[in-house]
Amino acid sequence: MQQRDSLGYTLAVAAVLCVVCSLAVSTAAVSLRGRQEANVKLDQQKNILDATGLAIGEYGVQANELTMKEIDTLNAYVSAKLVDLQTGKYVDAAEDLGKYSLVEEAANPDTSIPIENPVFNPGEPRRPKVMKVYFVKKPGTDKILQVVLPVYGKGLWGTLYGYLALKSDLETIQGLTFYQHKETPGLGGEVDNPRWKAMWDGRKLYDPSGTPAAMVFKGPAPKGDEYAVDGLSGATITSRGVTNLIRYWASDDGYGTYLGELKEEINDDKSSASEGEK
Ligand SMILES: Cc1cc2nc3c(=O)[nH]c(=O)nc-3n(C[C@H](O)[C@H](O)[C@H](O)COP(=O)(O)O)c2cc1C
Repeated sequence: MQQRDSLGYTLAVAAVLCVVCSLAVSTAAVSLRGRQEANVKLDQQKNILDATGLAIGEYGVQANELTMKEIDTLNAYVSAKLVDLQTGKYVDAAEDLGKYSLVEEAANPDTSIPIENPVFNPGEPRRPKVMKVYFVKKPGTDKILQVVLPVYGKGLWGTLYGYLALKSDLETIQGLTFYQHKETPGLGGEVDNPRWKAMWDGRKLYDPSGTPAAMVFKGPAPKGDEYAVDGLSGATITSRGVTNLIRYWASDDGYGTYLGELKEEINDDKSSASEGEK
């Protein structure tokens, strides 16, 4: 029998421990994957609800304080479609909606295009050809109250991924939230501060000539400025990144063409509704 303090015994124990531990870790990783994916999805749903102001409006709380029941109730307001950004038209692929992954679409050369806009630059190499957009409608009606656009761009430490919610005029911002970023807590990480996020409500996305103009100011935004929110102190690079990404996604390289189409759709619906009332 092998001695307990022999080299062979020590190595055998270490080997058995390695196998047992790696089995335990990989079993946990595989069995928890479903739950992790569900949590990522839930977090995105909460962020959409945050950007739309529905959580505060209906329940008076931030989206991360909502109960599951409240989230389910509010999710009935939200629907989604896929849009080809170049044509501004919807892509008819209901079965693809659930499977859509922005990160995968952007990474695949077949489903994305390079970002080469010299004026509006989000600091990212590519964007998907097709984006998944969300609508806020009163349950049981077709009237669009808000549209929620996924946006992303570089901050200081990495890419910020978020949602830009627009009111039904498609020119006024309802809210902006980031569900994933690597910015420093207390500096660039203040993009998550509810007080800063609340400043976006009512800012104009475009100037009168139709050029994207919403921005994060350097320092406190001038009183009465329609486009600007306060800068994040000590985080000029993150602030600039947020300005760049909003303006890029508002431009014709981003959602500009689609928003033009959607505006017509909303106006047509309005005029046929008023025809119906006559
Ligand atoms: C540890 C560390 C973390 C930082 N994190 C951020 C950040 O998340 N976002 C940012 O814009 N600047 C960050 N900065 C500061 C930038 O390096 C840069 O100084 C700053 O953006 C300039 O902003 P200011 O002109 O408002 O001071 C960080 C600096 C240090 C040392």
